[in-house]
Amino acid sequence: MNELKMIYERHSVRSYSDKKIEGEVLDKMMAAIDELQQESGIRIEFRESSRKVFTSPMMKLIGWKGDPGYIVLAGKDTDELDENCGYYGEKLVLYLQSIGLNTCWVGMFKKGGLDIVLSADERPVITIAVGYGNDSGKPHKSKTINEVCDISDISEAFRNGVDAALAAPTAVNQQKFKISSVDGQPVITADGKGPFIKVDLGIVKYNFEVGYKNCNE
Ligand SMILES: Cc1cc2nc3c(=O)[nH]c(=O)nc-3n(C[C@H](O)[C@H](O)[C@H](O)COP(=O)(O)O)c2cc1C
Repeated sequence: MNELKMIYERHSVRSYSDKKIEGEVLDKMMAAIDELQQESGIRIEFRESSRKVFTSPMMKLIGWKGDPGYIVLAGKDTDELDENCGYYGEKLVLYLQSIGLNTCWVGMFKKGGLDIVLSADERPVITIAVGYGNDSGKPHKSKTINEVCDISDISEAFRNGVDAALAAPTAVNQQKFKISSVDGQPVITADGKGPFIKVDLGIVKYNFEVGYKNCNE
């Protein structure tokens, strides 16, 4: 898979067809979920229908259609949980894009509708809608490099990282992050307050790494 290409092909999709995820695509998705669970220690589960989870009237208002599947990311409530869900969730999202599926991160999910059994110390952090879209979404309006990064003289690799970070999905497209360089190493931090800002940070870090590495290799 060319992850960098997937970063630019991925857009949030909110209108889904009736086609279910099955056969080889389902097998590949489940294998990727298994592998990521091992790697991250996060609980990642897929369910075929999101009808009981994506119930917010707001979703209809912003054009949600169909009954996609969903993936829920949950885990033991540590300080790193939200960021890790963003980081590993984005790795999964890019893989799903590469096998022909569409996605949308969904923070406005109904916790009570989740069809999973969690232990008392586990918290569901975020969900991701997944299925076959009726369209492929469209590029979001983005901040400029200068708005998120104040380094004047950046290397090509660094610039590729920042570009990939700016293409990342963030809650309400808030893009509240800053990228700087400390001793020549990129440092990415959340900038201010906002919904799911720590999940965003993990997503943005993953995208940055893909852009940065792609150029360095
Ligand atoms: C953590 C997070 C939560 C999100 N929650 C929702 C949501 O509840 N409903 C929705 O329609 N989109 C949601 N989104 C999608 C964002 O609105 C979308 O990523 C952003 O507008 C950028 O567009 P793009 O993903 O097409 O690049 C969420 C995105 C993230 C990263």
